[in-house]
Amino acid sequence: MKKRIYIARRIPQAAVDLIAQHCDYGYWDRLEPCPREVFLAEAAQSDAVITQSVSEKIDFEFLEAAPRCKVIAQMAVGYDNVDVPACTARGVLLTNTPDVLTESTADAAWALLMAAARRVVSGHTLIQEGRWGMWHPFFQLSQDVYGTTLGIIGAGRIGGAIARRGKGFGMNILYHNRRPASELEAVLGAQYRAFDDLLREADFVVMAAPLTAQTRGLFGAREFALMKDTAVFVNIARGAVMQEKALYEALKAGRPWAAGSDVYEVEPTPASNPLFTLDNFVGTPHVGSATPRTRLAMATLAARNAIAVLSGQPAITPVN
Ligand code: DGY
Repeated sequence: MKKRIYIARRIPQAAVDLIAQHCDYGYWDRLEPCPREVFLAEAAQSDAVITQSVSEKIDFEFLEAAPRCKVIAQMAVGYDNVDVPACTARGVLLTNTPDVLTESTADAAWALLMAAARRVVSGHTLIQEGRWGMWHPFFQLSQDVYGTTLGIIGAGRIGGAIARRGKGFGMNILYHNRRPASELEAVLGAQYRAFDDLLREADFVVMAAPLTAQTRGLFGAREFALMKDTAVFVNIARGAVMQEKALYEALKAGRPWAAGSDVYEVEPTPASNPLFTLDNFVGTPHVGSATPRTRLAMATLAARNAIAVLSGQPAITPVN
């Protein structure tokens, strides 16, 4: 009997075609998420599911409902939606899509960094609103990027790619990580700092570490107060690593000087999120990997992971 894969959201067609060559499949061919009851019922009849980190929760309820499903092929690098120990205990394999989205996500972090530092959005808005008065030497002053200090929290693949871009801007690179990042040290001359020291020294603090029990709520009032009053904070990781209310208060008080974020405590974040009333905050809607090339690569890798495991081969990028 052919194995069956359930694809829980519309993905690039080439990845669906690849799946169709090897397996039977079910498909929630829509942009909006698959309702939970449909997902559970489809997963119960499938050997693998292709999931998105923002919508499909893989928990005890899922594992009980879908005992036949032995592979979770996630189309994302992050997997904070998955109870990994529970999957492992039941012999369910989780795969993710590292590497293929690294450069796009690092570009997106830099877009936020530059936009926040050089006040791109507030400049655009003031023109739009007819508030561009006569030029003067103090008009729309912002922060230099070239030759400053970049501090990366989480020096993995994405953090490393963000750091590499910093080298082109003549930046001094600091990092904080669970393990020493010897390659970054050797290639970029990056230096390790204790967490608080990095916050005190960096001109740009970029959060690129995954959401875990240790990083949940990591950036609060104390951490923002440690940053320079000229610092820019960028979050390209997950919304829950920062306390949004504390960030709002900190930005209002002017320390850090500005912030940019791609992610929020609740997504989609409402238009009423107070962060969006601030001139020194710039936000994007969780689009770090959102380019056609990268999304195709992510979908194809997720499909190849599922197909490989269902045909008895090792996963390409396993998590557990
Ligand atoms: C990821 O790959 O983890 C992105 O945040 C998309 O969910």
